[in-house]
Amino acid sequence: MEQLVQQIEAYKQEIDLFDAKTPEEVEEFRIKYLGTKGLVKAVMGEMKNVPNEQKKAFGQILNEFKLFTESKYETLKENHQPQADHQQQIDWSLPGDPIAAGTRHPLSIVRNQIVSIFKRLGFAVAEGPEIEDDWHNFGAMNLPEDHPARDMQDTFYISQNPAWLLRTHTSSVQARVMESQKPPIRVICPGRVYRNETISARAHCFFHQVEGLYIDDNVSFADLKQTLYFFVQEMFGKNVKVRFRPSYFPFTEPSAEMDISCLICGGDGCNICKHTGWVEILGSGMVHPKVLDNFGIDSNKYTGFAFGMGVERITQLKFQVNDLRLYSQNDVRFLKQFTGVI
Ligand code: DAH
Repeated sequence: MEQLVQQIEAYKQEIDLFDAKTPEEVEEFRIKYLGTKGLVKAVMGEMKNVPNEQKKAFGQILNEFKLFTESKYETLKENHQPQADHQQQIDWSLPGDPIAAGTRHPLSIVRNQIVSIFKRLGFAVAEGPEIEDDWHNFGAMNLPEDHPARDMQDTFYISQNPAWLLRTHTSSVQARVMESQKPPIRVICPGRVYRNETISARAHCFFHQVEGLYIDDNVSFADLKQTLYFFVQEMFGKNVKVRFRPSYFPFTEPSAEMDISCLICGGDGCNICKHTGWVEILGSGMVHPKVLDNFGIDSNKYTGFAFGMGVERITQLKFQVNDLRLYSQNDVRFLKQFTGVI
């Protein structure tokens, strides 16, 4: 047994020093030591020659030898993992798969442009709820219940609670701003509005507006005109002409609608401008003193101007989109035409 133990020690040293250079050599190691005719099996076969009283101690030595050899084999195997095959190897020089980026909706593009122009003039953005109450949409804006001008805006009421409605204009956000802020106030309010209209190329039951409100001491109609003139030039370029026409809104006095020279035909007359050479883009005016009083803003001290424009109309002029329904049909052939326009 003495001799056998020495022999095992010698094998262990040999195994310890063994190093395989190729996967084939690892396999040779396995055959030599762990194969059915390998050395581990061979020394184990010696057990029968060991005297009974030494069998237990020898058994432990054998066991340990076997584990030692197996663990060496595992290490060798790990170091010689066959290389991942060709297909799995990464070629870092290959071009990547293109990532299909979405595009911004034309209405978002134009709304963002409008907002950014007014931001440069110091206007802050304010938002309000699309489901409104009668007061903020109508009452506070000087449209009492029996006011005929309510007919101008066919309203969707919420059937569960007729005190609620879908706002018909973003002027309701003016009301919310005046309710919570003190002058000076300078805000624009972009948002979606709803009216009970039959859907056609020229009308839709929802559309978008950007409202503007400026209240301070000494705000004049000249400020209103200059502000909107600046906006038009930034939006459509220096060659566009503007004109103001007297109009009526319950929440402004005096009121005016603003037209710009038709960008489609350059003023010569076309379908878009109904052959007049002019296109109306917004309503505006000096905030009615009653509206200021509704919110405890002293109308003797403060004056203000307000305006409301339709985003669809401005987008139509910018991108020559002639059918309002295209904006909400989600047809990618339409939407992807705005790729790259930010
Ligand atoms: N709210 C009006 C509409 O939806 C637009 C408008 C006109 C807004 C005059 C205003 C304004 O703030 O002063 O037709």
